[in-house]
Amino acid sequence: VRALAVAGRDQPAAVQDVESTEPGRGEVRVAVEAASVNGIDAAVAAGHLWDMLPHEFPVVLGRDFAGTVASTGDGVDELRVGDRVAGVITDLSLGRRGAIAEEVAVPAATLAVIPAAVAAEQAAAVGLAGVTAHDLVDALALSRGDVVLVSGATGGVGAFAVQLAAAAGARVVATARPGAATDFVRTLGAEDCVDHTSDLAPQVSGIAPAGVTAAIHVAGDPAALAALLQPSGRLASALGATVDQAGRDDVSVTPVMGVATPQKLTSLLDAVASGVLAVPIMRTYPLDGAAQAITDFSTHKLGKLVVRVP
Ligand SMILES: NC(=O)c1ccc[n+]([C@@H]2O[C@H](COP(=O)([O-])OP(=O)(O)OC[C@H]3O[C@@H](n4cnc5c(N)ncnc54)[C@H](OP(=O)(O)O)[C@@H]3O)[C@@H](O)[C@H]2O)c1
Repeated sequence: VRALAVAGRDQPAAVQDVESTEPGRGEVRVAVEAASVNGIDAAVAAGHLWDMLPHEFPVVLGRDFAGTVASTGDGVDELRVGDRVAGVITDLSLGRRGAIAEEVAVPAATLAVIPAAVAAEQAAAVGLAGVTAHDLVDALALSRGDVVLVSGATGGVGAFAVQLAAAAGARVVATARPGAATDFVRTLGAEDCVDHTSDLAPQVSGIAPAGVTAAIHVAGDPAALAALLQPSGRLASALGATVDQAGRDDVSVTPVMGVATPQKLTSLLDAVASGVLAVPIMRTYPLDGAAQAITDFSTHKLGKLVVRVP
């Protein structure tokens, strides 16, 4: 099976042959059609997680995918060969189970069926970023009357967070460089934009003089963001920020770990199918070019990068 993998410590991520795995009890083998790139893939490829998570080489990269059920293990009743499915790999150990591969074996109970109107690339790109955005917005319990700053709005998680926050009724202030990035977040529903390459404080106070009621932290300095909140404001962080890092005790800080469930994936995919949620795919790479997608992830880009398999 061809896969984008890291063969050993200090090895670069490269497309290579890895062993095919048969689905175990309760698992299905998915013939992958598309997978997306997330921060964890870039971190694994760079070796940043060697001392933090167990690695069993070869480590196949990729957390979220869409494809077709190719075979089923014992005890799988809910899915059949040929079903179109999307999923997110949630294992905390890294190894053969990765999404940027011709096939992956995963528990059937973790998968969502893809609506007919949603393309495999879209379903793969929604995955981890969409679920994380969902959980960030959920943690803030946003509603009409909230003014929420999304810091990191131009990336994968941020692009979904802008849309979900706006759909919840909040007024969205998005970070973006001037030009194409600002146009991009406006099309997703941001009412105001601030440029994170210069001081945010005067820009935000021009929009919300008393401060914003909430902030979504996907990038940037948590203390600088917390300083922009009204008293009793709420900050949700995808980067594990704590109250100590925020440097204020009159605001709440919630670290959020995106937890993928079939229910959340189904709800996001339904929103894509009905046109409520846009999936901003900036570029699609062939499997043979997947290492380049990992490299490109860390440069300035908008939205999601997707690998098309084969
Ligand atoms: N907790 C979780 O469960 C979870 C899940 C998924 C991802 N994450 C983490 O969340 C982060 C974002 O993921 P992603 O996939 O959205 O990454 P991404 O696509 O690279 O997006 C990050 C965005 O942040 C922008 N940015 C960089 N520095 C900034 C700053 N100081 N202020 C405002 N914006 C800034 C970048 O834009 P420029 O190009 O303009 O710099 C980029 O568009 C990553 O660190 C990832 O590891 C956490």
